[in-house]
Amino acid sequence: MTDAPEDKILVGIIGGSGLYHMDNLTFVKEVNPDTPWGKPSAPIVISKAPGGTLVAFLTRHGKGHSIAPSDVPARANIAALKSLGVRLIVAFSAVGSLREEIRPGDFAIPSQIIDRTKGVRPASFFQGLSIVAHAQFGDPFSNKLIQFLESRVRKALDGTGSELHMDKCIVCMEGPQFSTRAESKMYRSWGGDLINMSVLPEAKLAREAELSYALIATATDYDSWRPNTEAVTAAEVFKTLQKNAETSRHVTATILEELHTAAESGDILSEEAGSMKYSIMPRS
Ligand code: ADE
Repeated sequence: MTDAPEDKILVGIIGGSGLYHMDNLTFVKEVNPDTPWGKPSAPIVISKAPGGTLVAFLTRHGKGHSIAPSDVPARANIAALKSLGVRLIVAFSAVGSLREEIRPGDFAIPSQIIDRTKGVRPASFFQGLSIVAHAQFGDPFSNKLIQFLESRVRKALDGTGSELHMDKCIVCMEGPQFSTRAESKMYRSWGGDLINMSVLPEAKLAREAELSYALIATATDYDSWRPNTEAVTAAEVFKTLQKNAETSRHVTATILEELHTAAESGDILSEEAGSMKYSIMPRS
């Protein structure tokens, strides 16, 4: 017997710092799949939205925020969500702002990434195998999913005091320490608008798994580039985290059913599904 469409879990949400659960949902069950890359950061919570849509929620940093950004088992996380049948992921992450106009409390949906974690974190499902694969990653996020999210997230943010910024470039750095002032200024000169420690290798692995993936970045601070201003501290990040998490839960609750319907129709999936087909190097 096949699952009824309403029983399919097409949408996965990954919560970052501060976002450890979602609102307005009925708990169904927790699952903790074993993947070839180990267990995910935490058991995945399956819940039902008021209209009957199922959604899978995974907290990136584990229960009680116990996993540092460099140690997140990203391969297990993506593999576990894929094993549940998830087709698209909307990931949330607290970020620093590298631009005056992106204020703490604002939201952004980036379209580009600069990788400052290369070589440090396992970033491919093909690592250690005797297969060589090169995923297309020029557009690191799902353009269709981004397009879909823009108007809906903007509407959901109406009246919250948070502005939405589009088409931004996020720098993913190796933590756990924050950047120096010199690094922060350098990232700005490179064209970086936002900075976090978590979008990679998650986005790369989602692409290899042929999942549509987009990031909703929630700004907590101005990093360390502003002259005559204190450099970012964890305490400053915490100040905005709760409010941002509340707003993120509101956004998710508002867009969830429509997201599921769009995933079901295939409208926001077509770019990533099958994208790895010609990525594996033929053996000579
Ligand atoms: N996450 C939140 N703020 C950050 C910052 N300034 N740098 C890196 N990651 C962050």
